[in-house]
Amino acid sequence: NGLAELFQDHFKVGAAISNRLYNAHNSDLDTIVRNNFNSVVAVNCMKSERIQPDEGVFVFKDADSFVKYGEANDMFIVGHTLVWHSQAPDWFFVDEAGNNVSREVLIDRMEKHIKTLVGRYKGRVHGWDVVNEAVVSEGDGWRRSKWYEIIGEEYVELAFQFAHEADPDAELYYNDYNLYVPARREATIKVVKRLLDKGIRIDGIGMQAHYLLDTPLEQIKTSVDAFASLGVNVLVTELDISVLPFPNENVSADVGLSIEYKEKYDPYRNGLPNEMEQKLRDKYVDLFKIYMSQKAVSRVTFWGVSDRYSWKNNFPVKNRTDYPLLWDREFKPKVAFHGICDLM
Ligand code: XIL
Repeated sequence: NGLAELFQDHFKVGAAISNRLYNAHNSDLDTIVRNNFNSVVAVNCMKSERIQPDEGVFVFKDADSFVKYGEANDMFIVGHTLVWHSQAPDWFFVDEAGNNVSREVLIDRMEKHIKTLVGRYKGRVHGWDVVNEAVVSEGDGWRRSKWYEIIGEEYVELAFQFAHEADPDAELYYNDYNLYVPARREATIKVVKRLLDKGIRIDGIGMQAHYLLDTPLEQIKTSVDAFASLGVNVLVTELDISVLPFPNENVSADVGLSIEYKEKYDPYRNGLPNEMEQKLRDKYVDLFKIYMSQKAVSRVTFWGVSDRYSWKNNFPVKNRTDYPLLWDREFKPKVAFHGICDLM
């Protein structure tokens, strides 16, 4: 088991996988995943819009295949994600006239959703991203999602409580992005402390880790250590490092077809220069050193395997050529892969 075996004394090493993998075995991807990872998480198939697209209509086909894939390969299986404002169908939150449902109705829907999904995979899915992306860096730190708007702050503890009731043995995580940003770090600590103070089960904080080449390492380390000092595990849940500029302006679809746009926002569409490969390696190596320095880091999961299928090719701008992962578009290990292996 390549990567996972190398780092077995430090943490699990995971990959986010999608149905192109678990519905089609014996591919290049399949070989890489089986040889290098001891944990998997599903990219999309366990999100609420997929699991319960309409009220009471549960669709488990892909999620079943995902869990079987993890079991067949003896992996630590992570479910993603139970309560999130994104990729969640409207019917949860609004009635036919477009008005918000009552607090009681939303809590009831949340409970049914969580208990049906977690209950189905009880004892088989080992950990759940229970709440995803509840904080922001502005104001009081709470994201004004429909969950928050309708239920209030308690939506977080209710979600953890329902998940715990559905599978008392499953690990439960709070997951969010850019947690190296001080205001987001503090907001997360506040959310997690609430749970701990009330004696509600929470096993870890998931740091998504969708980084750029210049994401500040010291801030990342500060957050890793701060979360660990709460007494919970720290999971790196969605690691990838984009080499592309992250535009602040709004880039529209038709601009996306112009040559100026390509030059500016898709500079490596014909290949990544060697010096950039090395920058990517150095960033990965520095991150892994941080993760290895903190015993509470118990899993490092990459958001994908090959650059060919990375979501970063389409986010935050569509149709680009990014290089955020450890295997290239032809499924060959990159310089960054070897750099990480050389740490051990
Ligand atoms: C992304 C998937 O990779 C895409 O395929 C999908 O279109 C959008 O969502 N944070 C998360 C993940 O928690 O679920 C997101 O995954 C990436 C950002």
